[in-house]
Amino acid sequence: MTIPIIDELKIFTGNAHRELANSVCEYLDIPLGRAEVFKFANDNTFVRIQENIRQRDVFIIQPTCAPVNDNLMELLIMIDACKRASAGRITAVVPYYGYGRTDKKDQPRVPITARLVADLLTAAGANRLLTIDLHAGQIQGFFNIPVDELTALPILTDYFAAKELEDLVVVAVDIGISKRARDVAERLGAPLAIIEKRRLGNDGRTEILNVIGDVKGKIALTFDDEILTGGTVVNAARALADSGVQEIYCCVTHPVLSLEASKLIADSDFTEVVVADTIPLPPEKRNGKITVLPIAPLLGEAIYRIHNGLSVGEMFD
Ligand code: R5P
Repeated sequence: MTIPIIDELKIFTGNAHRELANSVCEYLDIPLGRAEVFKFANDNTFVRIQENIRQRDVFIIQPTCAPVNDNLMELLIMIDACKRASAGRITAVVPYYGYGRTDKKDQPRVPITARLVADLLTAAGANRLLTIDLHAGQIQGFFNIPVDELTALPILTDYFAAKELEDLVVVAVDIGISKRARDVAERLGAPLAIIEKRRLGNDGRTEILNVIGDVKGKIALTFDDEILTGGTVVNAARALADSGVQEIYCCVTHPVLSLEASKLIADSDFTEVVVADTIPLPPEKRNGKITVLPIAPLLGEAIYRIHNGLSVGEMFD
């Protein structure tokens, strides 16, 4: 008799994005695992897995979006609970990796929190990480466990390809994102332009220095990994409008949309801003300009492949 090391697939979630976890389960045609995840009156998070998961292949879906520390702590405690319940393998599925921007020591006496989070996930007992569009691909190297980083690029670009926009130029909203923006441009068969942006301190303010490339009279599609305060993309749209583009679209993987971002977008020069639902977008953050594309089929397919030992890379060939 052979004893399977890793058995049946099980999906669990905390409170960060239940809707996404339900959609992934729908894709996989399995029920969401039963677990209680709540806070006691003393603000301590508590988790109880309500079914047998011995030797099971457990995936815990939890983007570490706001409230970042609560969602991260829930994830860590869920991993610990699964480890102590003798799960066969535990994959942390983190569609949005919070603290990803704190990934290097670029000022004196600052932390590298993206690395700290990697250490915490591993110490808690995660055997693998499945994530989407990290702020910097190098964050993969902060882990000593296997990391599968998916990208929402095909989903976002297919949406724009279907629009058949003529005379399109893809615009990287800063130099750091230009390599990924080039991939978007290649997929859409469009040229690339780059905006030169400078950060003004640690409070999210930015200044646009230059639009590099031929954009006049064209339809522009700006690309970035996330919208936080909205300053970067909205300032980019203004600079492009000033440079004579005829229409401006935006595509971004993670809609963090903090502070006044939603209002800034509503009042911006963008015709449409397209995002993936790696983070829940409550009704008050939505507006007529924002289109949300579902990420569950991508995540569900990756989970299916990881569980069955199939290539994840082939999904993007
Ligand atoms: C920066 O390096 C990132 O790629 C994004 O441009 C940034 O996180 C967006 O932030 P905000 O919306 O606050 O300008």
